Parts: sequence; structure tokens; C-alpha cells
Amino acid sequence: MPKVEIQSSENGPNLVMVDGKVVAALCRCGQSKHKPNCDGSHRTAGFAAAKAVVDVTGA
Ligand code: FES
Repeated sequence: MPKVEIQSSENGPNLVMVDGKVVAALCRCGQSKHKPNCDGSHRTAGFAAAKAVVDVTGA
């Protein structure tokens, strides 16, 4: 079974990780022009949020 994690990057998007590889970067700042994907707008928006990791393997 692949290891699946959601990593909330510090001051950036939620990264969907499968076996250690990023398969999607989802906006959590609300500023992306290409939602649900992150387009890097969080950098100029001054978005600030803590890093977190959730293992959702088998969930
Ligand atoms: S988190 Fe990157 S654009 Fe929103």
C-alpha cells in the first residue's frame, strides 16, 4: 500500500504526497488564480501558516 500524506507546508500549500513524491499542491491561502492548485500567489500575499503533516494512508 502506498504511503499517503498531506503536508501543510510552512506559509504555503497543502502538498499531497504519495511515497514521498508531491502529486498535488493545493492552495490554502485563497489567493491562487488556478484553484484548487497553488500558483505561488501565497508568496506575495503574505500568507502565514504553520507546517503540519497528516498520514492518511489507509484512511
Ligand atoms: S497556497 Fe499557494 S497560491 Fe495559495
